[in-house]
Amino acid sequence: MRSLRPGFTVASLLTGLATLGALLFTAPAAQAADAPLRDLADAQGKVIGTAVTGGKLTGTYAEVAAREFNWLTPGNAMKWESVEPSRGSFNWAEADQIVDFAEANGQEVRGHTLVWHSQNPSWLTNGGFTPAELRTLLMNHIDTEMGRYRGRVEAWDVVNEPFNEDGTYRQTIWSDNLGQDYIAEALTRARAADPSAKLYINDYNVEGVNAKSTALYNLVRSLKERGVPIDGVGLQAHLILGQVPSTFQQNIQRFADLGVDVAITELDIRMQLPATADKLAQQAADYRAVMNACVAVDGCSGATVWGFTDSDSWIPDWFEGYGAATPYDENYAPKPAYHAIAESLGGTTQPGDGCTATYSVVNQWNTGFTGQVRIACTDTALSAWKVNWTFGAGQRISQAWNANCTQSGTAVSCTNASYNGTVPPGGSVTFGFNGTWSGSNPVPEVTLG
Ligand code: G3I
Repeated sequence: MRSLRPGFTVASLLTGLATLGALLFTAPAAQAADAPLRDLADAQGKVIGTAVTGGKLTGTYAEVAAREFNWLTPGNAMKWESVEPSRGSFNWAEADQIVDFAEANGQEVRGHTLVWHSQNPSWLTNGGFTPAELRTLLMNHIDTEMGRYRGRVEAWDVVNEPFNEDGTYRQTIWSDNLGQDYIAEALTRARAADPSAKLYINDYNVEGVNAKSTALYNLVRSLKERGVPIDGVGLQAHLILGQVPSTFQQNIQRFADLGVDVAITELDIRMQLPATADKLAQQAADYRAVMNACVAVDGCSGATVWGFTDSDSWIPDWFEGYGAATPYDENYAPKPAYHAIAESLGGTTQPGDGCTATYSVVNQWNTGFTGQVRIACTDTALSAWKVNWTFGAGQRISQAWNANCTQSGTAVSCTNASYNGTVPPGGSVTFGFNGTWSGSNPVPEVTLG
């Protein structure tokens, strides 16, 4: 929330003067936006990545992905069902496209994922294979996929989601048929398939200290004791608004102390829709908490968001009524969460910097008046907004349009309607209201949040 100081613009001055004289308050000039996230991250020695969908890598989606991120993870393109939909018949098109895009834009790739219980092709899961056949198929799969991208994929989520919530091993096609040591076997094979790639185990609900993360911790410790190749752990971090675990940093630290890298691999923070300015502010605080925990620990290499725009997120399809989980809204406007990530990486731009709110009285008669607030952005954007002011002479709002306004005593708070929360760079939104006054009708100082 920023205080706005009085000032004048020619256009708004003319509007105000048309009926009443200089009855308006407006904001100071815009300040320059921060450098892109990837530049901020570079300066901190951290990585900032995003999951991407190959088919969307054109236009604004491609521009933002290239400009803001220095790592990419294919969200689905490297999963077994994607690359080998029928046995022996491979489709590398989307995975190749993403790796090529990354190289063209100076980005690293996180390969995702080789050994998982989900998104396997049906020929594999329904094939009636013996354990020995499954072992051969899995080892060949690792050889084939890692071999194809040898030297071009910096890190691999070799094993994905091996644990249950209580810390026991998940029963999967792999643990059922190969035994729990399928993890060590896969890692060992992966090291041989691409000796330059960093090898990770990746899981969800392992962000705080709990039974599941302790099981992962014990596994990594024992793999290291046995000399099995393991370079890092991925903490997925599919989080819920307001629920960042308080032990996040402590947990990152204990893995780092084992001598492995910690990567936050699939960060998103979902909320019940609709997104409001208050929820987006809480989400920003949550993103900041996650990023700060990583920045604070040397052994945390950085974070990848699981899709950078709400228009490319898995959340609405999987959690009914939830969404808005990523740092950009569906129109590519950076949300408060974006600025929180930037700030945790050393940036200084606040949400709303570069945006101004201007209050003006557009018409006034014996006891009534019509007012309006115009929100305008220059080089940054808003994805939701809230404008507050305090009336100084007993004015009361009776009716508002293009905003939801409430008045309590002298304090007025107006938030965007469902259809006008986004203010793009160079764009503006105006809302209006009728009110009552007596004696005088001074223009209040407004704040934009
Ligand atoms: O490609 C088909 C499309 O042809 C079809 O019309 C459409 C109809 O539903 O489905 C499309 O496939 C979907 C696919 O995403 C690509 O969009 C699948 O139904 C859908 O199940 C699949 O969801 C993916 C999910 O993994 C599956 O488990 C999400 O996109 C992907 O973001 C998500 O990612 C996982 C990580 O790999 C591991 N950690 C958890 C994370 C979230 O579930």
